[in-house]
Amino acid sequence: MGNILSEKRILLGVCGSIACYKAADLASKLTQQGAIVSTVLTAAAQQFITPLTFQSVSGQRAFTDQDLWGSEGHIQHVGLGHQTDLIVIAPASANTIAKLAHGICDNLLTLACLAATCPILIAPAMDSGMYTHPATQANVESLRQRGVYVAGPAIGRMASGLSGLGRMLEPSEILGHIRLLLGRQEGKLRGRRLVVTAGGTWEPIDAVRAITNRSSGKQGFAIAQAAIDQGAEVTLIAAPTNLSTPVGAKRIDIHTAQEMLGAVLASVQEADALIMAAAVADYRPESPVKEKLSKDQGIPQIQLTLTPDILSAVAQLRTHSGFPRVVIGFAAESSDLIEHARQKLTRKKLDLIVANDITATDAGFGTDTNRVTLLDAMGNVQSYPLMSKDEVADLILQKLVVLLEAMA
Ligand code: C5P
Repeated sequence: MGNILSEKRILLGVCGSIACYKAADLASKLTQQGAIVSTVLTAAAQQFITPLTFQSVSGQRAFTDQDLWGSEGHIQHVGLGHQTDLIVIAPASANTIAKLAHGICDNLLTLACLAATCPILIAPAMDSGMYTHPATQANVESLRQRGVYVAGPAIGRMASGLSGLGRMLEPSEILGHIRLLLGRQEGKLRGRRLVVTAGGTWEPIDAVRAITNRSSGKQGFAIAQAAIDQGAEVTLIAAPTNLSTPVGAKRIDIHTAQEMLGAVLASVQEADALIMAAAVADYRPESPVKEKLSKDQGIPQIQLTLTPDILSAVAQLRTHSGFPRVVIGFAAESSDLIEHARQKLTRKKLDLIVANDITATDAGFGTDTNRVTLLDAMGNVQSYPLMSKDEVADLILQKLVVLLEAMA
């Protein structure tokens, strides 16, 4: 299925705002993801930033109103909005929002929007008083009603030095909204509900210490993002991690295996799939101490006990309710990879298991890359070369699409 942004033709509209400098970063990020990004700057935008900046980061043309009145004007004036998959206006000023709401098209950007047949996303950026003004609110609402996707704004520091609602979202967040929007338009998992777990659980020893593992959560988060790219509704159950939530995912934070069990069982009712990428602790201290243990008390003797096996509980639930329809597990192994994974596939009643050898330095826990073997319930075994965790996520979701289609 690949990266949703790959080869996407995006027209980036840039209005006059100090947030213009972030628009260049957005153009760069989109280009790095494989999108083909042309830019159109309003006259006010050019007071802050030049077309050359955008041309330099995207390698594509950056248009201004001069192009509207130039020799290709007859093509440009409606053409820009036609040759594109998505228009993103970031920063979107109060003035341009007002023009769009009222169908005014007195510059190349507003003309392109009025003539466009593709979706439009706006990321407002303005002083808080301007954003909350009833006129702007009415304009934003009217655009929303017409299907324009409004990303942000955020509450934060404004150019005036004051804090308020009107700060443009960060480029990485806008990128997340773009992926969410594109996924909803054309993703292969539209209308599907997925539950993804990620990270290593924490089992408390005392008030400050815990038993955990080296799982970073990267693979689970990559799966959640890839599922959103494909239009799925995603619940992401995350053990402690610093990773940022993919835009559009409903995140549930947990610490222990027991808490993860509760969150999973509550979320998988009517879910199409559960992907258990989390590294769940198998043992936990039997009686965690409420206070912090002191050295003066001597070396603690920690009695361990088994944690609940989440996948086994899910298998039981599935026998009764039929949900989740597909269950995918992971096997992180340090020896006899395939044999151990095959046993887990059967024992945990999985449709697919993703096996990875955690002894490799370039794959498994903490890395950005992974080398996996996929084993399914029909007995198919396929090993793949070293890939990014995003590519592995895409691969797993391709298999999921096939499994769900086979059930239809
Ligand atoms: O048995 P092992 O922990 O290696 O199994 C790995 C798979 O089982 C993973 O998908 C993991 O998320 C899941 N698991 C679980 N409950 C546990 C331990 C692991 O669901 N208590």
